[in-house]
Amino acid sequence: MSSTVHTAPSRLRDSHGRVIHDLRVSITDRCNYRCVYCRDGEDGAKYSELSNEEYLRLIRVFVSLGISKIRLTGGEPLLRKGLLELVTALAELRTLTGEPLDIAMTTNGHLLDGLAAPLKQAGLGRVTVSMDAVDAAVFEEITRVPKSFERVLAGIRAAQSAGLNPVKVNCVLLRGFNDNQIEGFARFAQEEGVIVRFIEFMPLEEGRLWTPDLVIPMNELVARLSGVAPLKDLPPNDASETAKRFGFTHGNGELGIIAPVTRAFCGACSRIRLTSDGKIRTCLFSQVDHDLYGRMRAGLSDEELGAYIENVVRYKEQRHHIGEPGFLKPSRSMVHIGG
Ligand code: 5AD
Ligand code: SF4
Repeated sequence: MSSTVHTAPSRLRDSHGRVIHDLRVSITDRCNYRCVYCRDGEDGAKYSELSNEEYLRLIRVFVSLGISKIRLTGGEPLLRKGLLELVTALAELRTLTGEPLDIAMTTNGHLLDGLAAPLKQAGLGRVTVSMDAVDAAVFEEITRVPKSFERVLAGIRAAQSAGLNPVKVNCVLLRGFNDNQIEGFARFAQEEGVIVRFIEFMPLEEGRLWTPDLVIPMNELVARLSGVAPLKDLPPNDASETAKRFGFTHGNGELGIIAPVTRAFCGACSRIRLTSDGKIRTCLFSQVDHDLYGRMRAGLSDEELGAYIENVVRYKEQRHHIGEPGFLKPSRSMVHIGG
């Protein structure tokens, strides 16, 4: 089924039999967009991020335990000073089997035009750009930043020419906000030769916007996409693939559907997260953070930090409970956790 199944050893195993290879690091909780489904529009937040040296020390410990894939997220990671130095240092690390790390990033793309080539040069492997509309006016209503559409489009094209491939475009769909963009996105995938992935809206926003009615279920989405051009099923890339993949029967482009709500993939989850203030989150929907940074500041050795991480991972939540009675929103919103 797959070419890149993780066979590398990892000491990071949870009590549900899952092996953790994938670390998402939020390197800032600042963001230059105020997307309606994420931010509440106010900016009274207190920001916190670690220094490059601090992230690197913690990441080295994670890698020594078996992490082989790092995704840099935010907030908006391109806002971070010293980003190129951080990526350069990550590119020097090696996995337990001596391979370079798989280094990816999720960005809103606003600053990508100027940074794609230097990031590639520094050692970034791939990039995912969040883009929730293909119509400039709709896009700018969502981001609440004028002229953002043209910047992001330039960023996507710069990433492609820099070789940060495959460039993926993430679109979070909300009924009544941007579901009129679905067909346009199918054409965009074909015309730009990118992988467009539709993500079901999850209750991770700062306010109280989420309801089940806002989620466009996978079946409805497939039916609409098939109306644009005939689709063919594509196999998953690896065992922890979150997207159901589709190609077009004729021509370039790829579509993916990430359906955490109607087709949860928790059983194959290989991910943990480090927040911008150095806390481990074992699930997007965790009710608790685990203060790794505080322990580092308190003087724990790398071995002690590693033992702490192994123990935290053991208690990773089995799955999320979105839509079930008694579901509690996580203690922090997406802009603080990182995607
Ligand atoms: N539900 C689903 N996806 C979300 N993202 C941000 N908030 C949500 C949400 N509530 C997406 C962003 C980005 C990635 C990090 O997560 O658009 O693509
Ligand atoms: Fe939008 Fe991502 Fe920023 Fe949230 S973190 S406001 S989704 S760009």
